[in-house]
Amino acid sequence: MKLMTAFMPVSEASYKTVQERLKCQTLEALLFEEIIPVTKNGKYYSFHGQNVQGETVLYTCEAVEKWSFGRVKVKPYSIQREGDTNVSIYTFLEEVVQQTLDGQHTRTFVQELLETFVKDSQAKSSQPPSIPAEDLHYEALESHMIDGHPYHPSYKSRVGFTLADNHLYGPEFNQDIALTWLAVRRHFVDIAVLEPTAINEMYQHHLQPEELAHFTQQLRAQIDEDEQAYVFLPVHPWQFEHIIATVFYPQIADKTIIILGKSESSYRAQQSIRSLSNRHSAQASYLKLPLSITNTSTSRILAHHTTQNAPIISAWLNRIIKSDEYLKNCQFEILKETIGVSFRYQKLSVMQYAVAYGTLGVIHRENIAQYLQEDEQAWPLNALMHKQKNGEAFIQQAIAFYGVEKWSRALIETLVTPIVHLLYVHGIALESHAQNIILVLKNNFPHRIIIKDLHDGVRFCSSELLHPEWEPKLNPEPATHRQFNRYSFLKTAKVSEVRDYTFDAFFFICMTELCFTLEEFGLREEDFWRTCTEVILAYQQQHPQYKDRFQTFDLFAADALIEEMTKRRIYGDQTLYFRKAQNPLLQALEFLKNEEK
Ligand SMILES: Nc1ncnc2c1ncn2[C@@H]1O[C@H](COP(=O)(O)OP(=O)(O)O)[C@@H](O)[C@H]1O
Ligand SMILES: [Mg+2]
Repeated sequence: MKLMTAFMPVSEASYKTVQERLKCQTLEALLFEEIIPVTKNGKYYSFHGQNVQGETVLYTCEAVEKWSFGRVKVKPYSIQREGDTNVSIYTFLEEVVQQTLDGQHTRTFVQELLETFVKDSQAKSSQPPSIPAEDLHYEALESHMIDGHPYHPSYKSRVGFTLADNHLYGPEFNQDIALTWLAVRRHFVDIAVLEPTAINEMYQHHLQPEELAHFTQQLRAQIDEDEQAYVFLPVHPWQFEHIIATVFYPQIADKTIIILGKSESSYRAQQSIRSLSNRHSAQASYLKLPLSITNTSTSRILAHHTTQNAPIISAWLNRIIKSDEYLKNCQFEILKETIGVSFRYQKLSVMQYAVAYGTLGVIHRENIAQYLQEDEQAWPLNALMHKQKNGEAFIQQAIAFYGVEKWSRALIETLVTPIVHLLYVHGIALESHAQNIILVLKNNFPHRIIIKDLHDGVRFCSSELLHPEWEPKLNPEPATHRQFNRYSFLKTAKVSEVRDYTFDAFFFICMTELCFTLEEFGLREEDFWRTCTEVILAYQQQHPQYKDRFQTFDLFAADALIEEMTKRRIYGDQTLYFRKAQNPLLQALEFLKNEEK
């Protein structure tokens, strides 16, 4: 038998690069969240690990505490174990994490880091030296966004995927993916739609006419009743093989679920892995599918209530955007989630419910094509942080052409104004980290943004909505969901939690990473945050009628809270882990005030 090694390019250089990133990123999170104690002597940090004999081991590194939220940055290749720089990821994790941290999930956390190590090495080994010119469009760029979460240490864990799976389905490998289509008895699914015609349109885009006819024929041959009693549903091929075929065995046997076969259309994985774009139909909706793997921070299932809330939330946000002159002027858009389908799990026995929950459904998201003008380009926002394998930053040419000052100011204005407007005026926070923002440019110059991933990424407080009469009636989450995902809630009674949602996803992660990137082009951290603050103050001056709201959702507060993502991974969801951090917007504001004096 031929050994299947095509999926396993192994490059020592790549694994060394990834090993270094993983050690630094893990250490940065452990230090920032104060999970391990450290002694600082200027830029020289020392901390302790414990070897398998239980003896204390001295570790040192060079690090800086950044102006931005006091985020810690460890100098690559500076970590030493008892004076030796040659410390492997295994020894490091053994001694600094596994032996040292007494968390309920320490072992799982280490496992996620090791999975990340291998999967990212695999991806890096097959990364092209630079992004080819024909790939400079949104769909292809999504596959080139290989770096994953910039803060989370387990940024590419994909627990459940083998390396062969990773090669077949990981976005970096850009393979053709054929979906498995099922017919599910209508009585066993819940469907929420934005427009009544949405379902027919989706069939047109995702199934060729002959394919639709063929599937229908196949369905008819297997059932006694009318085919209208069934709904067609796409499933990710990994999900079908590893979960659906087993978990829904009784439903397949009694024809609640009929297996139709693989699609003719092939799909491309976007950077979130489980959202796919259709390669044959440029207008077709993106499909967000459940994948029962754990990636980065959580299991990537699609909870029933989020599929049903998807069109409701999109309709609500769209109404707000279309009624708002300011957002219209910014040409701010969202990719609406037009259809949400989920299996009706409550029809299952308690035991089957537990294993089936969230595993079978789909959310259709609008394609970006319809929102782009001829003269516009779209980039996933994290393309801005992307360094190609040849070492050249993706934004190198844009910045060389316009200059870092001019380009970054335009970028900050483009990003910050619609997001603070939504917060201040409408009382709505979005989970705007870089993976959920699309930057639209004209001639490589920032022009406007489009936001996606809304069904579970919105937070608001009813009493603070500008239009409380438009508040959507959301499907509540089941109590069991709340138990294992205590951080995912849309409605809150505390305004500070709305502000913190914007603060965390947007300022703490997204803007800070942009700041670090632009620093490499010579823009000082202080100047980056000063521009952010100037943009917010200018916005406030232009909108004096909302003065009170600037206090309600105070972005210059000293007590804004940031989620401690790593603690959560190590110690579990029983306690909520948040911390205060020095607010760079506040620091910049004080700086500006002192200057005025
Ligand atoms: N900067 C980032 N911030 C957060 N998640 C990121 C980032 N970059 C990549 N990701 C990945 O994106 C995924 C989250 O997206 P998800 O909600 O699953 O899908 P979608 O955005 O397509 O709706 C995670 O798997 C995470 O690892
Ligand atoms: Mg997302």
